[in-house]
Amino acid sequence: MMRSDQIERLITVQSHIIEQQQMHPEATGEFSWLLSGVTFACRIIEANVRRAGLIDVLGDTGETNVQGEMVQKLDKIAHKALLRCLGYRGNVGIIASEEDDEPYVLQQAGPKARYMVLFDPLDGSSNIDVNVSVGTIFSILRRREQDWDAKDPVKPLLQPGFEQLAAGYVVYGSSTVLVYTTGKGVHMFTLDPDIGAFMLSNENVKMPANGKMYSVNEAYAASFPEGYQKYLTWAKKENYSLRYIGSLVADFHRTLLRGGVFLYPPTAKSPEGKLRLLYEANPMAFIAEQASGKASDGVQAIMEKRPTSLHQRTPLIIGSADEVERVLELCNGKNGR
Ligand code: AHG
Ligand code: MN
Ligand code: MN
Repeated sequence: MMRSDQIERLITVQSHIIEQQQMHPEATGEFSWLLSGVTFACRIIEANVRRAGLIDVLGDTGETNVQGEMVQKLDKIAHKALLRCLGYRGNVGIIASEEDDEPYVLQQAGPKARYMVLFDPLDGSSNIDVNVSVGTIFSILRRREQDWDAKDPVKPLLQPGFEQLAAGYVVYGSSTVLVYTTGKGVHMFTLDPDIGAFMLSNENVKMPANGKMYSVNEAYAASFPEGYQKYLTWAKKENYSLRYIGSLVADFHRTLLRGGVFLYPPTAKSPEGKLRLLYEANPMAFIAEQASGKASDGVQAIMEKRPTSLHQRTPLIIGSADEVERVLELCNGKNGR
């Protein structure tokens, strides 16, 4: 007869979240209900991504978003899936998407709507037509009591990264993987396509402390601040490898597992960098720190930055603690200038 301690645990993301919440006696279960909305939306997005060449979802919509970028059909599908899965959860008060200039204030949400969700519905969407990994990134904040009646829906969202309650991403790669943190480590789940559930594949993931790999769009190197250029020269001398996919989610996921550093410095075209603080940098920084890595904008920790606008951009240096430190040393606390 099999003893109970010999039974292998089979854990879905839902049961994992519930288990984590049980460590908090004050938890109401609301938070797990909210996260299940995110994972449900990601399953809808993944189904569309997987069939992208078969159904009419490839290409752009002909529209330009608030970031001045072409909106891909799949950007829109992903954005709508998240809105529909979260908009009726009752405990979500405000939703903000990288694809929309203004946040959504959910009218039916009363004081019980204790949470706000920000997301990048489809990261790396310009890669979708060429079958390269893309992803979804999310960040969850508390809707503070003083903001319940706020006339301005943007202000409550302008919280620094260290205030995040949870953050995560899903990478639609050779398999579909979900990574999340609620501030108690980083946990990884793989979607089992046959049963349609995200199954725990790696608990308490830690980023290697170093790794001889850098990830950057080096074509722009001539317009990087000097410190970044010095780092790239140094890394080449040290025989580092370069890996760059062009989807933050995929580049970050590799860095999390293998170590190394991902960089998006200021450039002539994007003096503040290209990536968005609230939709991309903050959630990734939360995950990196929880996995013993680091994230900086070249001057301060990403998680400490006080946002001033919803679609604010930031330079990003993220990855293994030692590698991030090395870039910062050469940037000399002045963002490399
Ligand atoms: P998004 O598709 O959400 O607009 O994000 C694209 C981002 C990010 O995924 C990636 O790291 C970066 O753009 C790549 O930019 P470059 O093409 O300038 O290298
Ligand atoms: Mn993105
Ligand atoms: Mn996007």
